[in-house]
Amino acid sequence: MRTIVLASETDFTGWKTAVRRLRIAGVEPASARFVTAGSVQDGLFDVDGAAGAVPADDAFVVPRAFMETAGDLILHRAPDRFDLMYRLLWRLRDEPDLMRVVSDPDVAAAAERVKNVHRAAHKMKAFVRFRETRDADGERWVAWFEPAHRVLEKTAPFFARRFSTMQWSILTPDGTAHWDGDALTFGPPGRQDEAPQEDEVEDFWRTYYASTFNPARLRTRMMQSEMPKRYWKNLPEASLIPGLVASAATRTEVMVSEPSPPPNEKFQRLRAPTVDRSSTDDLVAADPADLERGLQNCRRCPLWRDATQGVCGQGPREARLMIVGEQPGDHEDLAGQPFVGPAGQVLDAALAEAGIDRSGVYLTNAVKHFKHEPRGKRRLHKTPNAGEVQACRWWLDQERRLVKPRLILALGATAGLAVLARKPSIMTERGAVIDTPDGARALLTLHPAFVLRMPDLEERRRARMALVEDLRMARTEAGLT
Ligand code: URA
Repeated sequence: MRTIVLASETDFTGWKTAVRRLRIAGVEPASARFVTAGSVQDGLFDVDGAAGAVPADDAFVVPRAFMETAGDLILHRAPDRFDLMYRLLWRLRDEPDLMRVVSDPDVAAAAERVKNVHRAAHKMKAFVRFRETRDADGERWVAWFEPAHRVLEKTAPFFARRFSTMQWSILTPDGTAHWDGDALTFGPPGRQDEAPQEDEVEDFWRTYYASTFNPARLRTRMMQSEMPKRYWKNLPEASLIPGLVASAATRTEVMVSEPSPPPNEKFQRLRAPTVDRSSTDDLVAADPADLERGLQNCRRCPLWRDATQGVCGQGPREARLMIVGEQPGDHEDLAGQPFVGPAGQVLDAALAEAGIDRSGVYLTNAVKHFKHEPRGKRRLHKTPNAGEVQACRWWLDQERRLVKPRLILALGATAGLAVLARKPSIMTERGAVIDTPDGARALLTLHPAFVLRMPDLEERRRARMALVEDLRMARTEAGLT
């Protein structure tokens, strides 16, 4: 009998090295025994360490499906899993398609155990509950968890991605995982009393669970299969379950007999069809103020869903100059007004330098909703695509129809696309008046945010001068005094 000593219960690297050597040496599964370092007593076994290089030309290839199965199977708690893994490996040389024979008892046993491991990993992701503590490095969130199988290392990267900005530790009887905001490390087994037992976040979980519990949909058996009892002791919300279950029938009766509560506005918003071009069909705008009202119901493209509000153009109806930007930014989205953030400040200064009074200009954007993506607490600007610009041109056309400016100045390529209905080249086309398909006249210039983003001081100064120069030209062409 050959005994292989693995460094730990999940030492997959050690197991792979050992079995290659066993396989090459022709040691049959019945003659190999796997133990872990902690369980070896001196002299009891004919011990063979797992480490040791395999000669390259003796190595042989095993199917990837086997390696994937084995990588998960080793995490199962069944003590004979190492033997099963080696038995499958042994048989693969003569039966290369073995892993596809689902009726084979070894393959079926392996598949069943892998399923259990996946389920344990899934439960761990769902039922780990962090509680707040403080250590020398500040705030740390600590959770105690007893996974059905040894899935700590498998699931830890999930928590690192999900809670990347927190410092946290997960303690389990198999080992511990720690995240410091940068790196994931693993340590020896933890104890339940090393983790805090209660904190105020507990109330949050209980309130959340109680509010999502629907007594009319109670299926006790299904609930216990999704949230097995073995996890209840570490789930703050589990203490509510017996009471909620007991009162479910009465609560259902009350729910049925009471008038339904008003719909949740945010939920309705998310459920509404994302795009509905007919949302603007009924609007006949006699004035820019009508546009302002109508814009809040716009569903012409999906951007309305994540924006605070639509930002309509602003300025006198009789303005001779219309300036078109790209889309509202973070500040504009919150304020409901165009060009009030940092790019607006650059524009204001350039307007003043060009001798243009902002209050006499009609200022608007090609796209009326803020397109962005969340990054932590920030909302990062995303450039609208051609489809969104096209969908939103409906609003710009209305503004053009009502204001009838003598000149439209487009700031940047997105505005140029909206105004000219083609993709312009700002650098080569700026400085010359362009006739638009609807008979208006347009000028192109740089976007103030482009000026703001120039990393080099001298380049920024030149870009700013170009913007002022184009604004001066716009002033003349629009006939402003
Ligand atoms: N950038 C734009 O294009 N428009 C705004 O309203 C603000 C920033």
